[in-house]
Amino acid sequence: MSIDDSEDTTSNPRIAEGVRTMNDIIDIRLTRRAFLGGVTATAVSVTLGGCASENSRSTKSEAIDFEFEEIARGLDTTHHVPKGYTADIVLRWGDPLFEDSPPFDPMRQSEAAQLRQFGYNNDYLGFLSLPADEAGRAGGLLCANHEYTSTMLMLPNVAQQYPASMTAELCLTEMAAHGGSVVEVRETADGWKPVVGSRYNRRITAHKTPMEITGPAAGSPRLMTRDDPDGRTAVGTMNNCAGGITPWGTWLMAEENFNYYFRGAPPDGNPELENHKRYGVPAGLFQWGRFFDRYDLSKEPNEPNRFGWVVEVDPMDPTSTPKKRTALGRFKHEGAESVIAPDGRLVIYMGDDQRFDYVYKFVSDARVNTENLSANVDLLDSGTLYVARFDVDGSVAWLPIVHGSGPLAAENGFATQADVLIETRRAADLLGATPMDRPEDVEPDPRTGSVWVMLTNNHKRRPEQVDAANPRAYNRFGHIVQIMEPDGDFTATRSRWEILVKCGDPDNPSVGADWNPLTGDNGWFGSPDNCAIDPSGRLWVATDGNEDTGAADGIWAMETTGDRRGTGKAFFRAPAGAEVCGPKFTPDGRSLFLAVQHPGDGTGATFEAPRSRWPDFEEGVPPRPSVVAVRRRG
Ligand code: FEO
Ligand code: CA
Ligand code: CA
Repeated sequence: MSIDDSEDTTSNPRIAEGVRTMNDIIDIRLTRRAFLGGVTATAVSVTLGGCASENSRSTKSEAIDFEFEEIARGLDTTHHVPKGYTADIVLRWGDPLFEDSPPFDPMRQSEAAQLRQFGYNNDYLGFLSLPADEAGRAGGLLCANHEYTSTMLMLPNVAQQYPASMTAELCLTEMAAHGGSVVEVRETADGWKPVVGSRYNRRITAHKTPMEITGPAAGSPRLMTRDDPDGRTAVGTMNNCAGGITPWGTWLMAEENFNYYFRGAPPDGNPELENHKRYGVPAGLFQWGRFFDRYDLSKEPNEPNRFGWVVEVDPMDPTSTPKKRTALGRFKHEGAESVIAPDGRLVIYMGDDQRFDYVYKFVSDARVNTENLSANVDLLDSGTLYVARFDVDGSVAWLPIVHGSGPLAAENGFATQADVLIETRRAADLLGATPMDRPEDVEPDPRTGSVWVMLTNNHKRRPEQVDAANPRAYNRFGHIVQIMEPDGDFTATRSRWEILVKCGDPDNPSVGADWNPLTGDNGWFGSPDNCAIDPSGRLWVATDGNEDTGAADGIWAMETTGDRRGTGKAFFRAPAGAEVCGPKFTPDGRSLFLAVQHPGDGTGATFEAPRSRWPDFEEGVPPRPSVVAVRRRG
């Protein structure tokens, strides 16, 4: 099971108290034509791996045609790609990144070894092109988040006596496996390979990488700890889920389920109690707080306030200090995909991945300097954060989260903008944002002005809690919402929305799925999570939870225009237990990088008895979360 799907969820008091959401129970059916007015939804005929041939299969559709031969639904221990494609295993957990890295040895894991190796549970993938090397090989920097460790699957001899079996040393190994990696990769005759010892290679971890806290909340007394009396330096980052690459080439790492790492109770009378509760702190899933004070709320009640931010990293400089950008708000950040608005400002879309939490966007104050990229170094420190209210008439109101406006004032306990940002969720509650069905990736398309919102699922939504944008009770399989920014103005405070698909089995009436009837047997899926827009503007959706439909998670190509709008086509199938993260195309569209996360996991799965030993399939070697590159043969 994915860590995102654990049951410690619903902390939204508007829901806990049974408060109805703002929208009435109406299934609005606004026509797509009305929404796409002013938006160019042109047909594109480029296919992954090359160009559409003249003799392309003809369809009635005016829309994009996906040329590959669809793969079948199913569930087994390995991955699958369409006929004519290959999937290279590029980087596995434990692979060496530096000249002095020890080889992977699953029975002798250590903090020291893991600090020099590719981390665990790869999630977001960013790709920054580099010039061809001396051998003429294409290449780039892969930026990979390592979201979390699947402790019992990763560490030998731990599951049987867990959690008593955990030690300080094992926790340090876990911390070293968290964070992220920057790795130079090159396209060789044998596929994409890491360049071991590249001067760019870097490990970022949960406990060794100093980070600057910047923006309006930096220096707030609520961020101060014994280790950091100034509230401006945090060591490490964790639970980095999805993310983004900015137009100036930095990598945004989104801190998601930080509550899982804390335990204990704040001292009596500590003012952070309610704040922590809204974020599900402490969830105590990890054992770190038994050995390290910073994860123990009785010792460091402010420490959780230093997580839940978006971290900006310069991947070109391995000595650079990552920055936690507080202007982007504090929540369970899923991703941070950005776009330059017509007026030159940067807009970042973000989801708060929890049942009944919100969709956000950040609009920078300054314009992006496209001439001098280094001039954008602190652009993310000032701007306006908005939260979305999806109205029943098909409009989205973007509500500014600004101290002093409306309820965000002293009478509600917000003395400054720092307070508003530290408690972003409570601020959004007070503004009346729409509680969503787990907003995961939110990705803008600069060509069309559309923004695609993946809503993974929410089986806790009761019939009296449904609304127009979250229309299904017990929503086990999620849905995809399209936001249309007017005339492609991503800074707009009024947008339109509609539902692209309601996921799950269209042949099972109790699911309440809604797909284009042209969808084939393999074209539907459940629990959309991550997504990508390829260089020709097509949407690709990765799932986390499709196994609940009886088939593996994977990647589907989605039609978003024309007669076939709302059909899917299966492109990649993950091994049992895995979700698929990070889909990222190279700029030429010829390679698709995927992060296969928690392969072999599931109820009762352990290091000794995983559900799969992908990708090595060697007895005694546990499954290894890995980055895969899919390419067309030839
Ligand atoms: Fe870490 Fe919400 O996926
Ligand atoms: Ca995700
Ligand atoms: Ca996920």
